[in-house]
Formats: sequence, C-alpha cells, structure tokens
Amino acid sequence: MDTDPVFAADGLPEDRGLDLALRPQSFLDFVGQSRLIDNLKVYIQAARERGEPLDHLLFSGLPGLGKTTLSYLIAREMGTEIHTTSGPALARPKDLAGILTNLNTGDILFIDEIHRLPIVVEEYLYSAMEDFSLDIVLDQGPAARSIRIDLRRFTLIGATTREGQISGPLRARFGVNEKLELYPPADLTRIILQSAVRLAVPIAEEASDLVARQARGTPRVANRFLKRLRDFAQVEADNRITMSVAENGLERLGIDAHGLSPVDRKILATLLRAGGIPVGLKTIAVSVGEEQQTIEDVYEPYLIQRGFILKTPRGRTPTPLAEEVIPDGETGGLF
Ligand SMILES: Nc1ncnc2c1ncn2[C@@H]1O[C@H](COP(=O)(O)OP(=O)(O)OP(=O)(O)O)[C@@H](O)[C@H]1O
Ligand SMILES: [Mg+2]
Repeated sequence: MDTDPVFAADGLPEDRGLDLALRPQSFLDFVGQSRLIDNLKVYIQAARERGEPLDHLLFSGLPGLGKTTLSYLIAREMGTEIHTTSGPALARPKDLAGILTNLNTGDILFIDEIHRLPIVVEEYLYSAMEDFSLDIVLDQGPAARSIRIDLRRFTLIGATTREGQISGPLRARFGVNEKLELYPPADLTRIILQSAVRLAVPIAEEASDLVARQARGTPRVANRFLKRLRDFAQVEADNRITMSVAENGLERLGIDAHGLSPVDRKILATLLRAGGIPVGLKTIAVSVGEEQQTIEDVYEPYLIQRGFILKTPRGRTPTPLAEEVIPDGETGGLF
C-alpha cells in the first residue's frame, strides 16, 4: 500500500495529528450527506428530549467518507462518552463483556469494521443490543452454569465498509441503518477550502476545484492531496497553492487528469491485457501487488462508479472508457 499516494496506509506520521485537526468538530463543519445529517439531528433531539439514549446505529460506506467522524460528532451532540473498538479487536466474548460492563447509561460504543466481528462474539452482542444483558456461561462440562449480567442502556454505533457482510440478525438489531455516499465535487471543494483555512494555506479557487474533481468522491483523499500540495507550495512556491502548484503537484503524486492513481491504472491495464476475458480478483491482486480486499474495498468501487470497469459473476472487464484513458504502452508487461 505504501507506494500509492491516494491510500498509502496511514499516511506520513505527522499527518495523523493533522487528520485530527481536520476532523469536523460539529455538525456545522460536516459537509454534505445532508439527508443523513438532517435525520440524525432529529433522532438526537428526540432522544435528548425524552432523556433516553439513542437507538443503535449502523453506518456503512467506503473508506474515508466520514463514518468515524460522524460517530464522534453524535457522541458530542448527545453529550456522552464514546468508547471505541473494532471487530478484529474483539476476538473473544470476554473482550466484549469487559467493554460492555464498563459502559455508563447513554454511553456510545463504537465498533469499527463491525463486519469482522467473530461470530461467537457477535452472538453475545445480540442480547446486549436488544435486552441490555449478557448471558455468560461459567465453567465447562457438568459444572457449567450461566449467569445473567445486566448492562446499562448504551448506544452501539457500528461502522463497516462491507455492508453485504453484516449478518441478518445483527443488521436487524440496528434502529438506524445508513449508507454514506461518495461526495460530489462541490462538497469536496467546500471540505478542501475548510481544511485549507485550518492548515493556514491559501489555495486558489480553481486549484481547489481541480483537487475536488480528482479526489474520487472521498474527503480523506481530498485532505491528503491538500496536505501534499501544501508541502509543494511551501518548499517550491511561496506557500500558496496556485493552479499550477495543484496541477504540477497532482501529477507528481501520480494522479492523472481523470483522477486515477497509479494503482487504478495498473488495475485497468491488467483488465485490458486480458483482451475481453473477465479477470478474477485474485489475478488482479497479484498483478497489481495489492491485497484482494484492498482492491475490492478501496479501488474497485470508484472504478465501477466512474464506469471504467464492469463487475460480472465471472470476473471484471474493462469498458471502452478504460481503453480511452490507458494508453497502449501501459498495458504491456506482466503477461
Ligand atoms: N463530511 C465531511 N466533512 C468534512 N470533512 C470530512 C467529512 N467526512 C470526512 N471528513 C474528513 O475525512 C477524514 C476521514 O473521515 P473518517 O475517518 O470519518 O472516515 P471513515 O468513513 O471512518 O473511514 P474508514 O472506513 O477508513 O474508517 C476525516 O478525518 C475528516 O477530516
Ligand atoms: Mg473510520
């Protein structure tokens, strides 16, 4: 992952602090997704007026669209604590029990990548979500007995990039199930301008529009590009992100005029080389040098959405649009 400027694992170390600085601190800073935000505001106000915790919420959507951000905002608006964990971190039922028994009334438990929760743990979550209780089995064999632990009423917020992998019983226990969509360029422009103010770097309007168009509908990508352009501007261009700094900088990051990254182009080139025969995920992953899951979660959805590839049960095929953007020279190579 570390070769790709768009989704390099966690970015540069100093970026992590910046990421926090750029994260919206209130609903006012959270750009776009207006239908979802309007609904959330109603649910929050209603719950607050009744003096009750919020119903459980499930957020799905591609990486970097704001699931975590939104969860923190909800905690802030509700005036409650948020405890965060993730599906893979909850390996055993006792990991879950430890967290649940520590929650106070109204607290939010945020489980990231909830689709990766082991099934044995997930089953405990059912009664916790529904009845606010846990039935724990103590000892084994003839001495086995189960005890019931009552929990305080909490709100679970689950986040997932793979909505299709959430089991029916789990999904059914969420009172709110919302999908975050890719952002239109106009929203991304607003996010870029807002972030530029926070980073104290002036950016030309046409430059912010250019970055917005190339940020594949994703706020995290837009912010990441902005941070790199700020570096170029600082070292080479008088601290201002002009149109030429943006054009030149994006090109140096390997982003082409269509907003495609080097990995995107490798994927398209792989498909084009197959000459119309559908290509499986495994082959793409090997050819591109990325994990299958990364291809599926991070790169492919955008390429499908933009109409560069078609996904069929037999594999992926490129569209004529892919042929237009990948020059013949790039399709040579591995095969
Ligand atoms: N609607 C928005 N308005 C402004 N900034 C946003 C918005 N959504 C996301 N961001 C920015 O993008 C960054 C990434 O968002 P976030 O971490 O919430 O994504 P995520 O959906 O949780 O991603 P992942 O699936 O990888 O965990 C945030 O730190 C924030 O700076
Ligand atoms: Mg997240």
